[in-house]
Amino acid sequence: MTQRFSTDILIIGGGAAGLSAALHLAPHARVTVLCKGSADTGSSHWAQGGVAAVTDPDDSFESHIEDTLNAGAGLCDREIVEFTVSQAPAAIRRLTGQGVDFDTADNEYHLTREGGHRFRRVLHVADATGKAIVSTLTEQVLDSPRIELFDDRVAIDLVNLSRLGRYANRCAGAYVLNRTTGHVEVFQARCVILATGGASKVYLYTSNPDSSTGDGIAMAWRAGCRIANMEFNQFHPTCLYHPHAKSFLISEAVRGEGGILRLPDGQRFMDRFDARAELAPRDIVARAIDHEMKRLGADCIYLDISHRPERFVLEHFPTISGRCREFGIDMTSQPIPVVPAAHYTCGGVLVDRNGQTDVPGLYAIGEASCTGLHGANRLASNSLLECLVFAGVAAERIRGELEKPFTAVNLPHWDESQVTNSDEDVVIAHNWDELRRFMWDYVGIVRTDKRLTRALHRVDLLKQEINEFYRHYRVSNDLIELRNLIDVAELIIHSALKRRESRGLHFNLDTPQTLERAEDTILFPGAEKRLDLVRPAAP
Ligand code: FAD
Ligand code: SIN
Repeated sequence: MTQRFSTDILIIGGGAAGLSAALHLAPHARVTVLCKGSADTGSSHWAQGGVAAVTDPDDSFESHIEDTLNAGAGLCDREIVEFTVSQAPAAIRRLTGQGVDFDTADNEYHLTREGGHRFRRVLHVADATGKAIVSTLTEQVLDSPRIELFDDRVAIDLVNLSRLGRYANRCAGAYVLNRTTGHVEVFQARCVILATGGASKVYLYTSNPDSSTGDGIAMAWRAGCRIANMEFNQFHPTCLYHPHAKSFLISEAVRGEGGILRLPDGQRFMDRFDARAELAPRDIVARAIDHEMKRLGADCIYLDISHRPERFVLEHFPTISGRCREFGIDMTSQPIPVVPAAHYTCGGVLVDRNGQTDVPGLYAIGEASCTGLHGANRLASNSLLECLVFAGVAAERIRGELEKPFTAVNLPHWDESQVTNSDEDVVIAHNWDELRRFMWDYVGIVRTDKRLTRALHRVDLLKQEINEFYRHYRVSNDLIELRNLIDVAELIIHSALKRRESRGLHFNLDTPQTLERAEDTILFPGAEKRLDLVRPAAP
């Protein structure tokens, strides 16, 4: 029999967005947070650069807004940008109140700089800002008697009551794999918040941790939500190039503090591509590196900060210098070999300004969502900010919802009567590799219609195979993630094919021009409801 849990608010994801939302809601409701591993498994824990916020009197909201709009290449929602930027100082005050100790110098915040920012406005805790934020928020969550945190739970699918017949369109919970017991549990809730992070694991090379498999985006799509702007996957220009480094990020703050990008022969090159050189927005820097690597047949290029004093480098970048040292690279005296890697999903579950999705009772926040803040390219360090601000607004909206009358529906148990244990897990391992490789080769930094179409054919085949597998075998962590990655890959390719121009992070050699009018790419789930794949038993 399926084990059942009941709560007021179910938050799927325990990164910066999910943990913040839990803390906002705890005074008003019973909150349950689910994480795939422990709370430090999401991208938030790995964030290096920091949080963008206007705190210097010489800086201004107008300037932060302009920089965000410029990076977003005409596709940001100005109102959302203005709102988010104006809320940033309050979000920082809340974090410091919760115990996050941002670096200071001479009794002021020490502000670093990153690409696309005209001012130093990034607050940070050395080069491990995410770790400081997540550990502080986790401590508070664990201290709260109103929040239950479940580790090792992987949400499989959301329950939209309309799919059960008899009921209205509303999200009422989720089916969840308990990775420890191997059993599927059902979590019922009045409201569900998706805070599952991004989908950069769909690419072979990524800066992201293993949890970034786009689960929330795929689940929302299957539950009937629109998904927007998935073609805009951000590639970070500088990840450590080393066979054993597993795409360790070298923060843009290294360039912000004077780091120079060099070709293998030592030549500086970014000034040939953009007047802002190393501090141009990420799409421009990543494309320039990709271009130079392909032109020269080089395996990597180099990031050099060895001209800055050793003490300065070690003080500002203790994590990065430590990691480089493990691979025999001393960044205080030699350049770091780097390559671009998939880093951030700018698109996601389309939400309104309260984080509400198309399905009543379902909210999406953080990297899983598409709020309109990032447009066609996210400005550095605007992501943690978005997590914090939209956790607050979604929580506020949900508080209002909690005052309305509500009747709980008993959700069906998970039906395993038609499935057996898989005897062919090699299919999953093989398809994981194949998917991530062709996404890198065909749907990467520079695209063409032919490559995109080729990738779509491959996705169709993989999808058939995996759906077949899903129908016949018990679910496992890898199967759940692969199924989601395939849906996400399909969403990315469809979005990329729909956009008949190049803009921001989406660059297609067949349509290199930028159209005058900027429009979001919105995919509607109507034709894609794969009801046959949802496996709850009849109520
Ligand atoms: P995450 O922090 O990724 O958390 C997702 C959570 O959802 C995890 O707990 C995961 O276990 C859980 N989850 C996922 N799927 C499921 C499921 N099916 N069931 C249950 N749980 C699930 N941004 C900045 O603004 N500044 C920076 O300096 C910065 N540096 C970065 C450095 C690196 C290396 C990376 C990878 C990203 C960086 N970013 C930075 C981006 C930023 O960290 C992320 O966009 C942001 O942290 C996302 O937060 P989130 O809460 O939405 O998701
Ligand atoms: C970095 O430190 O370079 C990452 C910052 C970000 O992704 O916003």
